[in-house]
Amino acid sequence: MKTLVSVAEMQVAAAGVRGAGRSIGLVPTMGALHEGHLSLVRRAQQECDVTVVSVFVNPAQFGPNEDYLNYPRDPEHDRGRLEREGVDFLFAPTVEEMYPPGFQSYVTVEQVAAPLEGEFRPGHFRGVATVVAKLFQAVQPHRAYFGQKDAQQCVVVQRMVRDLHLPVEIVVCPIVRETDGLAMSSRNAYLNAEERRAALVLYRALSGARERLQQGERDSASIAAEMRRLIEQEPSARIDYAAVVDAETLAPVERVTGRVLVALAVWIGRVRLIDNVVVEEHDGRVTSLL
Ligand code: PAJ
Repeated sequence: MKTLVSVAEMQVAAAGVRGAGRSIGLVPTMGALHEGHLSLVRRAQQECDVTVVSVFVNPAQFGPNEDYLNYPRDPEHDRGRLEREGVDFLFAPTVEEMYPPGFQSYVTVEQVAAPLEGEFRPGHFRGVATVVAKLFQAVQPHRAYFGQKDAQQCVVVQRMVRDLHLPVEIVVCPIVRETDGLAMSSRNAYLNAEERRAALVLYRALSGARERLQQGERDSASIAAEMRRLIEQEPSARIDYAAVVDAETLAPVERVTGRVLVALAVWIGRVRLIDNVVVEEHDGRVTSLL
């Protein structure tokens, strides 16, 4: 595995791969790699000739009171895991490389970035869209791989790619969970034993919502209310949102038809967790996707 730290050398390497007629798959990450990240890596390797994983903890997507400084960082562990997976390139730029003095150009995606995470993390998706656009410029990927775990991030990136005519295909991969259902996340490392148990309430609430949908419930407000009721039984849990929205526009829906995203953001103590499930209603039947 070759490690590259500058945008210029990454662009030269990408031009070489493209010039040889080979395809590039990019997996953007912030490191602290777990099986969720590795599932994207393996998918990229199946579908592309050359796989590039970027590891960059992007300051622009953290709010002033968020965990940028404490975000889990373990470059040696990450490098080892990627070596073992047979990744071709690790792109690990510094903050100074990505945001040199004088930096002032940002990508802002509007409507789909506004609700849900956008409401509770103002500026977050501006940071995400900007860094993802910059990573695309550095790596020149044919395909880029994102996890459904961050459902709104996938929608925002897809919108940006369409709106700015970026020549890259976005591939969305299913959520990887622990055996008890907790969605894997680098932030799970912050949970103590009691919080780790309490964190299961997200998966229980989503599973309950899916079950009610499969039993014929179509009223979004009552599905959301039932999720809230369940989560509020957990003393350490505090809800940011529990929402049922259109899976493409992320606008609230009153009644469930077509494809909807059931999304949660919940604090467990001082740790903020997100999770979701996508369901599709068709001819009165509901199937669960991803
Ligand atoms: P990060 O949180 O490190 O996640 C990198 C990628 O891994 C994202 O696409 C995320 O959705 C995916 N991922 C995380 N946990 C997953 C799980 N349990 N199952 C499947 N996929 C999972 O998301 C970011 O970094 C950043 O915002 C980034 C896109 C790198 C821009 O800075």
